Amino acid sequence: MAKIKPSKGAPYARILGVGGYRPVRVVPNEVILEKIDSSDEWIRSRSGIETRHWAGPDETVAAMAIEASGKAIADAGITAEQIGAVVVSTVSHFSQTPAVATEIADKLGTDKAAAFDISAGCAGFGYGLTLAKGMVVEGSAEHVLVIGVERLSDLTDLEDRATAFLFGDGAGAVVVGPSQEPAIGPTVWGSEGDKSETIKQTVPWDRFHVGDVTTLPLDSEGNIKFPAITQEGQAVFRWAVFEMAKVAQQALDAAGITPDDLDVFIPHQANVRIIDSMVKTLKLPEHVTVARDIRTTGNTSAASIPLAMERLLATGEAKSGDTALVIGFGAGLVFAATVVTLP
Ligand SMILES: CC(C)(COP(=O)(O)OP(=O)(O)OC[C@H]1O[C@@H](n2cnc3c(N)ncnc32)[C@H](O)[C@@H]1OP(=O)(O)O)[C@@H](O)C(=O)NCCC(=O)NCCS
Repeated sequence: MAKIKPSKGAPYARILGVGGYRPVRVVPNEVILEKIDSSDEWIRSRSGIETRHWAGPDETVAAMAIEASGKAIADAGITAEQIGAVVVSTVSHFSQTPAVATEIADKLGTDKAAAFDISAGCAGFGYGLTLAKGMVVEGSAEHVLVIGVERLSDLTDLEDRATAFLFGDGAGAVVVGPSQEPAIGPTVWGSEGDKSETIKQTVPWDRFHVGDVTTLPLDSEGNIKFPAITQEGQAVFRWAVFEMAKVAQQALDAAGITPDDLDVFIPHQANVRIIDSMVKTLKLPEHVTVARDIRTTGNTSAASIPLAMERLLATGEAKSGDTALVIGFGAGLVFAATVVTLP
């Protein structure tokens, strides 16, 4: 048997830079109220959301991702040619093939970087980060660009009062590269496919394509509704509050730290009440900065953690070198949590 040379990577990996892009259009709750029976007060108190961003025609998944990535690459102090792989997490890129990652890798000016998309809902950033860390340490790429990007406004049923107010659009990106010290902890991740019905697309594309008005959901004007994300809000809420606090604690344990050692908590931005409940269950001390970016960004799925990270660093609420717990969870159901050193 021939002897195969082992690949040679860095001792450890770290996040070197972060960037975000929020669409220009800011959408207040008043706009959401045009199509559902609700109130600004209900939306704010039950979800924490005051405004969200919705993408315009030119703010495509690729365009938003390129903007966020350009900032992350500059923040990391590298050039696009140094990126060896591009991992894009999204559920709202409407071409099944090719992956949008290849277009992004090309337009950024990478040197034929490996590029692929992943589908892991609101845990997508943690899934991408875990892959990136593996690539850097294993040696298949020195620098990996991890992007979370969504145009969830395209997949929102504005007549569904359970979801119309929840989702937003945007892109967040990080560059993961070599480190001499551990700066991304062990990932605690997994899936619970027995709960896959709790967050899903209303109608699969093939059924939508057939266009049968007798079986497909219709809007108030009698037109077939475009597929949208639907969820059993209460079931997901309970799962997030009870099960995700345990996963977050497991990630702290796996990293060998306690809540006292934390500087920052960046959970997926799904509902401010879920965030507050996790803070309480984890008994996070007062000094821990908690991301509540949901107030002005809504739920941007895979983009929510890097967008919140970027904002905390930009506003000075968090600083480079801080220790942060990140946890994503959502459709699948899937989850991923880890402790990172902020870039
Ligand atoms: C969606 C969500 C904000 C709804 O909040 P909730 O407190 O669970 O609301 P419920 O569905 O229990 O409804 C409570 C009441 O408000 C009403 N209600 C529901 N939507 C409403 C709306 N948009 N405006 C006003 N009232 C509304 C319901 O009819 C119900 O009224 P009732 O008590 O008279 O029956 C919440 O369930 C949630 O955030 N879920 C998890 C989201 C999540 O993590 N998603 C992850 C995906 S990535």
